[in-house]
Amino acid sequence: MTQHISIRRPDDMHLHLRDGAMLQGVLPETTRHFARAIIMPNLVPPVVTLADARAYHARILAALPPHSAFEPLMTLYLTEGTDPADVAAAAASGLVKAVKLYPAGATTNSQSGVKDFAKVAAVLDKMAEIGLPLCLHGEVTDPEVDIFDREAVFIDRVLTPLRARHPGLRMVMEHITTEDGVAYAKSENLVATITTHHLILNRNHLLVGGIRPHYYCLPVAKREKHRLALRAAATSGDTRFFLGTDSAPHIDALKEHACGCAGCFTATNTMPILAQIFEADGALAQLEAFTSLNGAAFYGLPPNTARITLTRHELAQTFPDKILTEAGPVTVFNPGFPLHWRVEP
Ligand code: NCD
Ligand code: ZN
Repeated sequence: MTQHISIRRPDDMHLHLRDGAMLQGVLPETTRHFARAIIMPNLVPPVVTLADARAYHARILAALPPHSAFEPLMTLYLTEGTDPADVAAAAASGLVKAVKLYPAGATTNSQSGVKDFAKVAAVLDKMAEIGLPLCLHGEVTDPEVDIFDREAVFIDRVLTPLRARHPGLRMVMEHITTEDGVAYAKSENLVATITTHHLILNRNHLLVGGIRPHYYCLPVAKREKHRLALRAAATSGDTRFFLGTDSAPHIDALKEHACGCAGCFTATNTMPILAQIFEADGALAQLEAFTSLNGAAFYGLPPNTARITLTRHELAQTFPDKILTEAGPVTVFNPGFPLHWRVEP
């Protein structure tokens, strides 16, 4: 029997769209299913000021497929030079929905990130005052800390003191990858985004039987027990957890490389993958909360009124292996199992 579910159109609360030819190539992959997305500011150079965000917003709108109603929700990249007044103006403009904190050196294009948190205290105070959320890339960059421990150590060394210093600041723990992240979000009543790929991958998928560059992302996939904790959180319906795909396109030449870039490109097939995951976990009734309700509620946005229908087919559905952009080919995330769900056109 064919199964259908209808949900409010989803929002992607953590997305990398890049710029130029790459933006043009990958944007339709998101706008096909998603109504809105929180757009990451880690361009080169980064989106730091309101003026930068306005210009990037205009470039995204110019790249939209015809008749698309997609709404990019802009973010500013926090630097030690960020001006609190500019951040306040950005929030007041309605265009900018959050500020993104990258510890310097944590991930792709994070060189301009924060080294000394004292230098951003005034900005964070202003954000707390006006209710503008801070999105956190939660990994320490201390070379002494093992890469698989960097999220848990960030919680202890950075997040807990940051919350003590700025108690009113609204924060999003982005792309959590550990049971520690899940437990902390719950115990402290914080919100957290979870990616599609971290619901599927553990570190064996990345490393056993040969290194899989298209499964390499940051934060890196962890042990199986962590994947299971993420999966339980995502499918629980708990309003503190919502989708941020972290879909992060890099051309194949830079993924399949001696020093490959971090990022999984999941925009194309995220919704079919999630339907299948939630079905497998007996949680299809919670899919809409995870993809379409919880994130919007946190950001103070009305839920989308438009809907999408997902259908389960007996036959496995095919999706492109790659998206061919003018910047080069981008490999679409392969979940490693046949996909039976499809979003109706
Ligand atoms: C992201 C990118 O490529 O911009 N990469 C990733 O592995 N997720 C940066 C990020 O969000 O860490
Ligand atoms: Zn990201």
